[in-house]
Amino acid sequence: MKEPARHTVTAALPYANGPLHIGHIAGAYLPADIHVRHLRQLGKEVLFICGSDEHGAAITIRAMKEGTTPRAIVDQYHALMGQAFKDLGIHFDIYHRTSSPLHKETSQGFFLKLLENGAFHVQEEQQYYDQEAKQFLADRYIMGTCPSCGNPDAYGDQCEKCGSALSPKDLKDPRSTLSGASPVLKPTQHWYLKMDEAQQWVDAWINTGVLDGEAHHDPSEWKPQVLGQCNSWLKDGLRPRAMTRDLDWGVPVPLPGAVGKVLYVWLDAPIGYISATKQWALDKGQDWEKWWKADDTRLLHFIGKDNIVFHCIIFPILLKLHGGFILPQNVPANEFLNLEGNKISTSRNWAVWLHEYLERWPGRQDELRYCLATILPEFRDSEFTWKDFQDKNNNELVAVLGNFVQRVFVLCHKYYDGRSPAAGPRLDQDQDLWSAVHGSVEEVARHITHFRYRDALLAAMNVARAGNRYLSDSEPWKLEKSDPERTRSILANSLNVAAVLSIILEPFLPHTTEKLRRMLGLSILPWGDTFRSDLVGAGQALGKPEHLFKPITDAEIQPEIDRLHSITPVEQQPSTAAASAKAVNPQPAKAAITFDDFAKLDLRVGTITAAERVPKADKLLKLTIDVGESAPRTVVSGIAQHYSPEELPGQHVVLVANLEPRKMRGVESQGMVLMAEDVSGKLVFVQPKQVIGPGAEVR
Ligand code: MF3
Ligand code: ZN
Repeated sequence: MKEPARHTVTAALPYANGPLHIGHIAGAYLPADIHVRHLRQLGKEVLFICGSDEHGAAITIRAMKEGTTPRAIVDQYHALMGQAFKDLGIHFDIYHRTSSPLHKETSQGFFLKLLENGAFHVQEEQQYYDQEAKQFLADRYIMGTCPSCGNPDAYGDQCEKCGSALSPKDLKDPRSTLSGASPVLKPTQHWYLKMDEAQQWVDAWINTGVLDGEAHHDPSEWKPQVLGQCNSWLKDGLRPRAMTRDLDWGVPVPLPGAVGKVLYVWLDAPIGYISATKQWALDKGQDWEKWWKADDTRLLHFIGKDNIVFHCIIFPILLKLHGGFILPQNVPANEFLNLEGNKISTSRNWAVWLHEYLERWPGRQDELRYCLATILPEFRDSEFTWKDFQDKNNNELVAVLGNFVQRVFVLCHKYYDGRSPAAGPRLDQDQDLWSAVHGSVEEVARHITHFRYRDALLAAMNVARAGNRYLSDSEPWKLEKSDPERTRSILANSLNVAAVLSIILEPFLPHTTEKLRRMLGLSILPWGDTFRSDLVGAGQALGKPEHLFKPITDAEIQPEIDRLHSITPVEQQPSTAAASAKAVNPQPAKAAITFDDFAKLDLRVGTITAAERVPKADKLLKLTIDVGESAPRTVVSGIAQHYSPEELPGQHVVLVANLEPRKMRGVESQGMVLMAEDVSGKLVFVQPKQVIGPGAEVR
């Protein structure tokens, strides 16, 4: 595996049959944008590709429902989505569309090359045909009674009531959604991709990372759920799959005997990444081929979990059978985002639509980016709630980041007339500050590289936390009279921490960091500069102390919650990974225990007096807890990704005090801190509501 010279990064082409919602953003586009922004900071050559997926039955059906044409639908949503992406700061190099002439030419050429290479066999089958509408019916165009649950309105590909995957011939009493007539079976022929013949190499490529006898990627870097889905397909055995459809909306099959047939949308759409690249290259007078053919190009596909097999199995087979193309290095697919206790549903309008958010919360793009980045469904489904959005804005963006920057700027304006002071000799606490900052910076980069954006953002915010702590500890406002030199030094260090923040937060909060750079008088800086502590030189003119964020009140947030409930029919499907504690309890109940079992627990209230990281353990913190005994306890707790050590001293906690001591990473843990965890994986301390002395018993 060579160090890549360039990256081709794609984000799933959204169907142009409706607007984008926050689930799309958290699923694919925000992680892709963060990744790309970071690569650019590293000075890498990157091409970031997206566009609208404008074919397929989803679009013709929408057009039919609205009494308009597919063309009108895709034109409308292509424009809406392209604008919404831009407004949220998701900047593709090109946002293309699969209904373009260049795409038609590219996908037809691709199909013909596959044909020439023997990728297909032609097979005749019986398929439903609507005699009134005079056309073959795509699976979604047929409705009937579900054989599993009796739902009279099941679709030809799926019953939305019981979730069964169906094929049209499974339905009882099928009817055409075009005319309502009962369809008849009629023979038709299709081009089947010989996926069965690819079984072996696909399996080896995915699971060992070896392709054509060479190491291609490291499979341990693929997400477990991505490998899991691929392997469940591989285990069932890959089967030939039709790459053509009888439809009149799509890319026509470029063969004389194929009138009324188009390319299957899952053949046509991923080729859309390639035609988008060609269009970009034409516009810029660049070469397109190196982005898809050079073996020192790294190809990454950002998608949601429902797209995994298409990107990990089918598209790679197509690329390989065509020949000359590279295969994806990784496909960091995300799980799903739920909303306020339920699955996002576009048909039930249970969604936060991106274009509407942008209208109702003007200038607040980064607040949404931030909240979504902290709950990305990276390894399991997660959940957005408006309350959490408000909390994260108020407790993190305002109270931690905004507050730090504000304090520094106010003091510099007050003492130095808006010029940055000079740093004096370094003391121990400055040293501590900078080693904390640089440690976090390293973590940010490491996590982004491994597609762990939640952890990366947490580490980045820890820099602001370290800054706040430094200010609180060194109290420059008390020193200004007695020790002006030290005061200058503290504020110079703080300004430079703000400068580092303007770099490391850029992938997440590009609008905020732009503001921050303006305040600091800095231009956009490369990642390499994060290791400097002198980015803001002495005497530099500073901008006005602007508030980076505003608190969000209950009065602002309540209408959002009300809106959701008012426009949505009451009947909801609870999300699988059920909602917050109040909605549905996700954990199956445990078996009953006797009171004696319970009485064996020695639960005590304690106060955390110190906290530090455990070296080489991302998740662990070593806590010192006063439980009113002669000596404090040492407890190792797996909360490092939820709390930074600085914010812990003073916290009241509940300790299981009689748990057998246990060594973790060489440290003996003398008890366990009780935490509450919700389905999104968020952890909070279980705490007494009123202050009570250490050692108090919990029973
Ligand atoms: N339109 C598809 C969806 O929204 C994604 C297509 S990704 C591509 O699920 F690779 F096919 F383009
Ligand atoms: Zn059913």
